[in-house]
Amino acid sequence: MLLFTLLSLLLLPFFSLFSSASPIALTPRATLTRIATFGTNPASLRMYMYIPATLSTSPGIVVTLHGASGNAQQQYTSTPYARLAEQYGFIVVYPESPQGAWDATSKESMTHEGGGASQSIANMVRFVGDTYNVDEGRVVVQGVSSGGAMANTMAGTYPDLFTAASIYSAGSSGNIRSMYPGYTGSYPKIQLYLGSEDTIIGSAAFNTTLAAWATVLGYDSSPDQVQSDTPVDGWTTYVLGSKLEGIWAEGVGHPVSVQGEEDMKWWGFAR
Ligand SMILES: *[C@@H]1O[C@H](CO)[C@@H](O)[C@H](O)[C@H]1NC(C)=O
Repeated sequence: MLLFTLLSLLLLPFFSLFSSASPIALTPRATLTRIATFGTNPASLRMYMYIPATLSTSPGIVVTLHGASGNAQQQYTSTPYARLAEQYGFIVVYPESPQGAWDATSKESMTHEGGGASQSIANMVRFVGDTYNVDEGRVVVQGVSSGGAMANTMAGTYPDLFTAASIYSAGSSGNIRSMYPGYTGSYPKIQLYLGSEDTIIGSAAFNTTLAAWATVLGYDSSPDQVQSDTPVDGWTTYVLGSKLEGIWAEGVGHPVSVQGEEDMKWWGFAR
């Protein structure tokens, strides 16, 4: 008993020193914060994070990927996710590519643990998972244009980490199953948004990307339901299965603007 007390007295200062010195304990709430070290970072990406003031006891993670000419700061101010984080209590991760555009298509990036940008982003997610009591059922990735292509690559290379992906104004290139050979677990649910007037991506990418994910998710490539004027008047939602939807944004060019409230439903934050 005495020994125990003495030990506790001796150890207490070390424990409190350790916890207050841990970088995460110093991560301030409700502001965009750079996280200098998060694990192996083969693509030399930067990690920024937003911890809401109203952090959930078991928070989800939203990874949001900027477009080709963007950066983390711009993604933070131009998307609704930090505001929605305050409403739903999740953590937002804003990876930043020093080159602007994402390496979504190299062999390294399109391979699970392949030493590319996808591995750097996966390690950001793991770092947050190791640091907070994360809800593994709500870990999602979203991106627009180049970021959308990278979100597609993340869903294919790390299906074990992500439960949902929202790909805006981008398409899938290549065989998805080949990104993580031998993987037999489940894949995230996928929502694809494309504008009918998008001449950068081209309308053909809509059905080819849906067909690529239908194969992986075990659906046939013809839609089960076609919902007109959903989620926006004039737009059409094609439901290929409970885990796969394509949203055709009639009259919209490149890129489709972020549908934050729809994302909250698709990712399981709003009911
Ligand atoms: C995609 O496929 C559906 C039928 O499955 C078709 O009605 C639609 O026109 C196609 N969209 C494009 C952009 O090719």
